[in-house]
Amino acid sequence: MTLSILSFAQVCARGQARGKRVFIRADLNVPLDAQGQISEDTRVRASVPALRMALDAGAAVMVTSHLGRPVEGRQQPGDSLAPVARRLSELLGQPVRLVSDWVDGGFELAPGEVALLENCRLNPGEKKNDPELSRKMAALCDIFVHDAFGTAHRAEATTYGIAQYAPIACAGPLLAAEVEAIHRALAQPQRPLLAIVAGSKVSTKLTILQSLASRVDGLIVGGGIANTFLLAAGLPIGKSLAEPDLVEQARQVMQDMKARGAEVPIPVDVVVAKEFRADAPATVKPASEVADDDLILDIGPRTAQALAERLKAAGTIVWNGPLGVFEFDAFSHGTEVVARAIADSDGFSLAGGGDTLAAIAKYHIAQRIGYISTGGGAFLEVLEGKTLPALEILHKRALEAQAA
Ligand code: 3PG
Repeated sequence: MTLSILSFAQVCARGQARGKRVFIRADLNVPLDAQGQISEDTRVRASVPALRMALDAGAAVMVTSHLGRPVEGRQQPGDSLAPVARRLSELLGQPVRLVSDWVDGGFELAPGEVALLENCRLNPGEKKNDPELSRKMAALCDIFVHDAFGTAHRAEATTYGIAQYAPIACAGPLLAAEVEAIHRALAQPQRPLLAIVAGSKVSTKLTILQSLASRVDGLIVGGGIANTFLLAAGLPIGKSLAEPDLVEQARQVMQDMKARGAEVPIPVDVVVAKEFRADAPATVKPASEVADDDLILDIGPRTAQALAERLKAAGTIVWNGPLGVFEFDAFSHGTEVVARAIADSDGFSLAGGGDTLAAIAKYHIAQRIGYISTGGGAFLEVLEGKTLPALEILHKRALEAQAA
């Protein structure tokens, strides 16, 4: 994450965007309701600074994104970015024209105008990062701006190939901000660095747990993941969700942490129910006394308090996943206490992932989180320690430009 990359802000500061055609890859992959209306517009709002930057620099602006996972070459109802064009137009306060069949160009675009190029995943070759498609798209512009952090883990034609061939390829302000926040949290963290990794399955986050185990001072596990760690610690979990075949890996993570003088705090108490229902009676018990027919649905109050103390004193916090079934009020206490402790901490906090964002919204703490990532899968790949393809190609282009 310490890769040197040219930023669009630098390009604009040099006056290189004036009168030029700028092609922005944003991540406008937003949820739509049954009426086809945007139900959550964070990503559209997050794309505005790059568009504004390009307009202020005097560019003619094209922006595209994928929406969902359509079949290439076959547009179905619901695949169109039309609702996004309307929302962008409201946010920018100017018309945003939706352009279909745009790969071969032929559409007018003057400086100061914005065209939204229809769902890029409808173009045959997009997913496979087809070189011919990438070249055609690169020919549409003078400057390519990658601003789609949420799709930075995909090597597709609009996220990778076009960056190879465009005259200038650089990172937009959203991508740059995400990279900076990640760097601050993981590459040069203020210590102690605590990570929260929660979710239903160890198997989906095992590489994240293993990668973080070598870097963080405390690895807090939650949800079904914590149940597998409870098993690894020799504690009963009743009929709770867990993956017994991954107990050995969980134990290894605990041992690796211990060997470094770090730790995976194991819950001392839990909230259980006999059924997975919002109105199921909730009982707090010591973690050692979980009965065979109990389901663990949250961490207990003593555990939550102890974690809250540690989080408040942390230098850096990386947060992915709620600690319990926070959608059910009776089992939301652990997530709420931890969320509020993160908000109260003086340390830098970086949060990401769908359920995490829902918890942040539920407890109205967004303003008190250091940085909230717009990435889902991309954020998880960063936590795994991977270099995202989008950053790799932008870095390569920056090195080529320096050498030229
Ligand atoms: C996301 O929603 O995580 C991104 O837009 C990436 O979408 P994808 O998983 O379909 O590539």
